[in-house]
Amino acid sequence: MAYIEQRDALIKKWLREAASEIKIALKSDLEVEVKSRKNDLVTIMDRKTEKNLIEKINTHFPDDLIISEEGFGDQVDRTDFENQTVWFLDPIDGTLNFVLQNENYAVMLAVYEKGVGQQAYIYDVERDKLYWSIKGEGVYCNDQRLPKIKDLSLKDGLFASNSMFLSDKQVGLNAEITKRAMGVRTLGSAGLESAELVKGSTVAYVSYGLKPWDIAPGLMMVQENGGVVTNFDGSPVDILNSSPTIMATPTAQKEISELL
Ligand code: IPD
Ligand code: CA
Ligand code: CA
Repeated sequence: MAYIEQRDALIKKWLREAASEIKIALKSDLEVEVKSRKNDLVTIMDRKTEKNLIEKINTHFPDDLIISEEGFGDQVDRTDFENQTVWFLDPIDGTLNFVLQNENYAVMLAVYEKGVGQQAYIYDVERDKLYWSIKGEGVYCNDQRLPKIKDLSLKDGLFASNSMFLSDKQVGLNAEITKRAMGVRTLGSAGLESAELVKGSTVAYVSYGLKPWDIAPGLMMVQENGGVVTNFDGSPVDILNSSPTIMATPTAQKEISELL
């Protein structure tokens, strides 16, 4: 088995193990802590899942570096990112949903080699849907290959965003985007929003302040399936820095970027 396929098989096994531990944890009371503000939460399972996955990555790939949300990863600078293999890990994306809804959250991993996305994984735990991609081989949901993203405009599809964007002071512009679309959706998980775009259920996802672990898997998958990911002004996203981001079909990206 080639190196990438071996790594792919390991990652899928680890994600399934993480998912089953998370599901068991949901049967008991979750220990919840507030981080920076009342809707920024962390649970014992965010930390435990991150620690377990990092231990597995370190055991099998001791030379690689890890950028992760809960602080158990490495310090990675641009030189490291451009010269080494770097993993991005969000142990639970959509923690607020995890706590309040017990669904609509994902475990996410991505592997970038010398700055280029090679493998990406977004695991919708409660629906048991694993979105995954190996560079050059398309995007899959479980065993099914997803068709390429159709280049639809805003008027032909659903626009997705987060509550920060929808309540922003530029509300006039945001309302214009909203009006042009057939409807608006907001899921509360950047990873699952990326998956919705990748599978053609929405035509755009716009968000402020996505962190490297929020965006790394979606960025690779969206590009792999024919979509685009940019800053609001249309420039390329810097994965190492948090920035306001548009993920969209090529046409919807242009429409949104012109309006913002
Ligand atoms: C958050 C979710 C949310 C997005 C935030 C992220 P977390 O991730 O993806 O949808 O709007 O920007 O921080 O904190 O639940 O892993
Ligand atoms: Ca996240
Ligand atoms: Ca998280």
